[in-house]
Amino acid sequence: MAAPLICPSILASDFAMLGEEIRALDAAGADWIHVDVMDGHFVPNITIGPDVVKALRPHTKLPFDVHLMVAPVDPWLEAYREAGADILTVHPESGPHLHRTLGRIRQLGARAGVVLNPGTPLVVLEDVVDLVDLVLLMSVNPGFGGQSFIGSTLRKIERARALLDAAGSKAHLQVDGGVTAANAGACVAAGADALVAGTAVFRGGPTAYAANIQALKSA
Ligand code: DX5
Ligand code: ZN
Repeated sequence: MAAPLICPSILASDFAMLGEEIRALDAAGADWIHVDVMDGHFVPNITIGPDVVKALRPHTKLPFDVHLMVAPVDPWLEAYREAGADILTVHPESGPHLHRTLGRIRQLGARAGVVLNPGTPLVVLEDVVDLVDLVLLMSVNPGFGGQSFIGSTLRKIERARALLDAAGSKAHLQVDGGVTAANAGACVAAGADALVAGTAVFRGGPTAYAANIQALKSA
């Protein structure tokens, strides 16, 4: 089994020193930087605007994996792409035309992701699978870091893996929420190839990031 991509969520970082945090994650072996964008409307929290992403862009060459928890999402795609997002991931509930939104993301030159909440059925993927470079399965209800992994996600990962394989899709399958070294191995065994982790990466401060990332990779 190949080691998964580790995508630290900067939601769990020290917001007073985000630039340093990004450089520390890069040095510690992170694969992508996961940026959680929340609007206080689609989810009950407010986080990172495009100007912050733009300010962070010079601090690393790692891909910026931007998870948009914003509704309506369409008016924000271009701003986050211009700010430096490499991957833009959207919830199907955040706009009326998922197919059009994914096409627009690719047209902007970014990789397109779809993210499904714990209560959102996989069937949403079936008719857009050709437009998707990343499928993100939420293993918590979005809005906050530090929540517990919802166990039924493992079965959903298996079903998503089967759906992608049957469609001949090379899209990444990513999991987000409550991921730790204790459940990372099960996520990968179920078919995930990318793991988002906030708490599990940032625990112990900057000197622990490399070991925390390694623990997730080898779990
Ligand atoms: C939840 C976010 C996640 C979360 C991950 O809305 O999308 O990225 O912050 O944090 P942990 O790993 O602490 O659950
Ligand atoms: Zn996220």
